[in-house]
Amino acid sequence: MIEHQPTTRWTAVEEFLSDVVVRPDSSLKRAVTAALAAGMPSIEVAPNAGKLLKLLVRLSGARRVLEIGTLAGFSTIWMAQGLPDGGRLVSCEYLPKHADVARRNVDDAGLGHLVEIRVGAALDTLRALEAEDAAPFDFVFIDADKENNPHYLDWAIRLGRPGTVVVMDNMVWEGAVLDPSLDPVNAPGIITALQMLGEDPRLDGTAIQTVGSKGWDGFALALVR
Ligand code: SAH
Ligand code: DHB
Ligand code: MG
Repeated sequence: MIEHQPTTRWTAVEEFLSDVVVRPDSSLKRAVTAALAAGMPSIEVAPNAGKLLKLLVRLSGARRVLEIGTLAGFSTIWMAQGLPDGGRLVSCEYLPKHADVARRNVDDAGLGHLVEIRVGAALDTLRALEAEDAAPFDFVFIDADKENNPHYLDWAIRLGRPGTVVVMDNMVWEGAVLDPSLDPVNAPGIITALQMLGEDPRLDGTAIQTVGSKGWDGFALALVR
């Protein structure tokens, strides 16, 4: 039989992989429920992507993690679960309401001692972090307003060191990377960031296409040279 709704099947497979392999703990499930209850959009990373973030934090031996775009703290909790004792995660969030929900979710997950959520425009927070000597960060996850992706990538390098791992979400954006007219606000920043990943001599990167509960999208992975 021909399936005419591939997204349904992609999501069913994602749920299967999440249930069988990923197995998010109760704190992660509660974080998603709390975000929904607060009326926040369901734009957190999928569970299998969150688990990948945790594994990448562990694989890279990261002790200092920087996140740009907190939402309700779902990806924050995943990454903090990959940190060693004494690790630190700073997450940047523009909206106070999102930061409040995230703070509660992170505390509820027993990770409050590792995580600092900074409210404000991320570009301001990044400048402040530089002034405070909070760098170098070993791992950076970029997942906020897509228009600023090229700037966030530049900041990841500035606040990183050779060997810093950078992950950037939403690099396919339902195919808008090939047709920016589909989203003239966000597509240009995504395309420019992809070009930077390919051309900037300070970066060595790749981009991976994904399907599932978050539609047709993808993420980029890069190493700061
Ligand atoms: N990383 C989260 C999802 C982030 S959604 C997860 O996977 O669980 C994107 C978030 O970025 C939203 O909460 C939005 O409010 C925030 N954001 C948008 N513009 C921003 C800016 N200029 N500075 C900081 N945060 C911003
Ligand atoms: C949106 C943002 C995200 O980071 C994401 O993963 C999906 C959607 C959004 O702003 O619509
Ligand atoms: Mg995202």
